[in-house]
Amino acid sequence: MSSVLTIRGGVPLTGRVTVRGAKNLVPKAMVAALLGNEPSVLRNVPEIKDVEVVTSLLQLHGVTVEKDPHTGDLTLDPTNAKTASHTAIDAHAGDSRIPILLCGPLIHAIGEAFIPDLGGCKIGDRPIDYHLDVLRQFGAVVEKRPGGIHISAPGGLKGAKISLPYPSVGATEQVLLSATRAEGITELSGAATEPEIVDLIAVLQKMGAIISVQTDRTIRIEGVPDLGGYNHRALSDRNESASWASAALVTRGDIFVEGATQRDMMTFLNTYRKVGGGMEIGDDGIRFYHKGGKLNPLVLETDVHPGFMTDWQQPLIVALTQAEGVSIVHETVYENRFGFTDALIRMGANIQVHRECLGSVPCRFGQRNFLHSAVISGPAQLTGTDIDVPDLRGGFSHLIAALAAYGTSRVTGIDIINRGYERFTEKLAGLGADFDITSAE
Ligand code: EPZ
Repeated sequence: MSSVLTIRGGVPLTGRVTVRGAKNLVPKAMVAALLGNEPSVLRNVPEIKDVEVVTSLLQLHGVTVEKDPHTGDLTLDPTNAKTASHTAIDAHAGDSRIPILLCGPLIHAIGEAFIPDLGGCKIGDRPIDYHLDVLRQFGAVVEKRPGGIHISAPGGLKGAKISLPYPSVGATEQVLLSATRAEGITELSGAATEPEIVDLIAVLQKMGAIISVQTDRTIRIEGVPDLGGYNHRALSDRNESASWASAALVTRGDIFVEGATQRDMMTFLNTYRKVGGGMEIGDDGIRFYHKGGKLNPLVLETDVHPGFMTDWQQPLIVALTQAEGVSIVHETVYENRFGFTDALIRMGANIQVHRECLGSVPCRFGQRNFLHSAVISGPAQLTGTDIDVPDLRGGFSHLIAALAAYGTSRVTGIDIINRGYERFTEKLAGLGADFDITSAE
């Protein structure tokens, strides 16, 4: 039964939240366990929907997944991996994109894979062409079937010299998960190097993989015939940490985010400081707070790591609606990630979206019909309204806008937020938010 949040705005969020393992690493580390010939242990695992989806997909393929009732740590045993039925996979894939990353490990484990048509946030077309091209370069046979794609590699996967047209996180993970047990050397140029990618490489290295990241975004993998298990503590979720930091600015609050890691958030912290946010960086987390004065507008361009992450821009834009002046955000990673601004405009925000590249460099979307630049004028008084959550980060952005708005907002579709924000309603309540949860009629 889906839930409805009724939020009464105007209450600053103050207190402490704990952020655990990164949504954009943990499911990939779970998939990596399939490559091993013995059990693996994954720690710092958040209770989020994406972990549930991958747990059931792995169990479908014969992997046992045991969760420690006290710590939430997962023990994954791939020893009895097997083919799963297509219909069962389809039913369990949900709205996740993770299934595409099962290809390499399943081919190594059982010689084939069937991947259902994928889900994922509606923030662009979300194609998988890079993934399929990479698998073909490893020697796999990719066939479109009703409801999904069948991939097989009768002679096994062979190392390849691969160059990505764009530093895609998913495609880089596809290469890492396929190449570690492929025969021979793989050289990947144009790779993504996000902290979550480096943490996945750390997981694979613990299993026995030989992977080196060179200075020019080239990753070199020497294939090995067998891999063992791993025991790994996932890095913390920098996207959730950045979301709570923006929440502190939007609601004029003060939030200590336990688990926030400076090393993975450097670009965000610089931007936060330029907007006028207060921060105290500690060893176990970061305190983010509104200093009481004005917020500053800024010109921002999202990019791959170490640039400003696309996942950070949506919650920050809500803060920019409160800044004194005109801000510009040029989204260069996804072609359609400003849909969430419709609800903000209905609440009173002054935002225009444009087809032009309003940033320092033209991007892939410049000469096409994509509204991928936003101009935000502030400060704007936000007033509560009815909101239906469009995607994960947009949904969190709507929540914090409603928490700052004058009056009451009724927010539906909040189950999407469970995909990536662990126990977010409990955290909101702990920070003093004034809201009720009811089940939708
Ligand atoms: C991962 O998505 C993250 N999701 C995203 O986080 C994140 O925004 C993104 O990386 C970029 O950092 C997970 O890790 C589960 P990409 P992914 O492949 O791997 C295009 C969140 O809110 N592309 O780097 O799907 C693609 O359309 C989510 O936590 C192709 O054209 O991202 C996009 O424009 C949102 N063909 C660009 O590359 C392909 O085959 C970046 O996508 C693959 C991607």
